[in-house]
Amino acid sequence: MSAAGVVVVGGGQAGFSVVQSLRGAGYEGPVTVFADEPRLPYQRPPLSKKAHTEPDDLGIGLVPESFYRERDIDLRLGECVAAVDTAARTVTTASGERVPYEQLVLATGARNRPLPVPGAELDGVHSLRSPDDALAIGRTLTTARDVVVVGGGFIGLELARVALAHGARVTVVELAERLLSRAVSPRLQDRLRERHERDGVRIHTGTAVERIEGRGGRVHRVVTSQGPLRADLVVYGIGAVPREELAREAGLAVADGVIVDEQLRSVSDPRISAVGDCARHPHPHADGLVRLESVQNAIDQGALVGRRIAEGATVPYQSLPWFWSDQGPVKLQIAGLRASTDEVRVVAGDIPERVAAYAFRDERLVAVETLNWPAEHLAARRLLQQDVPVSPADLSATTLGALARARRTKEVRA
Ligand code: APR
Repeated sequence: MSAAGVVVVGGGQAGFSVVQSLRGAGYEGPVTVFADEPRLPYQRPPLSKKAHTEPDDLGIGLVPESFYRERDIDLRLGECVAAVDTAARTVTTASGERVPYEQLVLATGARNRPLPVPGAELDGVHSLRSPDDALAIGRTLTTARDVVVVGGGFIGLELARVALAHGARVTVVELAERLLSRAVSPRLQDRLRERHERDGVRIHTGTAVERIEGRGGRVHRVVTSQGPLRADLVVYGIGAVPREELAREAGLAVADGVIVDEQLRSVSDPRISAVGDCARHPHPHADGLVRLESVQNAIDQGALVGRRIAEGATVPYQSLPWFWSDQGPVKLQIAGLRASTDEVRVVAGDIPERVAAYAFRDERLVAVETLNWPAEHLAARRLLQQDVPVSPADLSATTLGALARARRTKEVRA
């Protein structure tokens, strides 16, 4: 067996961030990445923002293959790790190769929750995770007239707008009573619904998909609890579940994610870390453990673990969480973590399409959701990350952007 170094399982945004930061921080030992997908690590967000028909046009590249070669990173594309032996400190690949590790990083991500109804296997029914999924959806969209989107979350609403822009008749079927119930506060849910409906997206909330029916093996209609809907294309985005089976089978603590401490080490084995969508971790802004599905979280957690292994830096993970979703003309951005018990105040900006919702806990700003207001989102990120206290009174007649500018001016004068 080769010398033991760092083994990373997963070649997504989080796995990439680990190795980039390891080498960036001067780690000189062996680095191996096992990536079950047969392509170079890429970024996923562009996949749901427009219709893709050409592989060369996906716009998802991170770094070329030479990046790994020049840094002596052994990138094993299309290779899957099947087991971890924590006592022997080895991983075993699906093809039976054993590779030793000094430190193991699980960056295994999440998989889409399957749509549990008859007919979900028909041609023309897709979920979106990989570039191939995006191409299949994009190509079907070029001819589809009736599109049914199952799930009114981030992916569903982004794809609904992509389909609308292609001239399709689009219906969103959401099981919950409201759109985006996981991600944003009720008043912003209402604003988004109004906007999408005004532009022509039909939205059925509180509606279950009962089955999907086909003709000649292709989707023909979706039967819902409110009646049937014609469909040439069905896309579903009904959430994701962490890929934690490798950790579970290795005997590590898992509970909707691999459970890690504030330095992102498995609570069961300090030689194993977990980062990105698969990790459940403590966070200073959360009550208890959280699992976050976002690019920011994948990048920042990967970087923290890379630096810890390279430099022995023992800083806790406390990056401010932030998220975004581009839904046609609406850019939704979220900074911070809102709890359902927080008090939310909504303010319209100086033009009708700009909206900010400020969430307060114990009279202190904890999260900000904005529509089409990137400057306010950035101000929120800055103030929340710096832990600057902001009360409802501070914001009674101004914006965070103006508040941040006023505070900077005061600091300069002082
Ligand atoms: N039928 C209809 N809707 C459903 C069903 C169902 N059987 N089950 C769940 N839903 C709804 C949920 O109520 C929720 O509104 O699907 C929506 C899923 O939304 P998200 O949780 O935002 O998940 P999704 O849109 O699939 O995004 C998955 O991709 O962009 C990232 O950050 C995003 O990590 C997330 C991932």
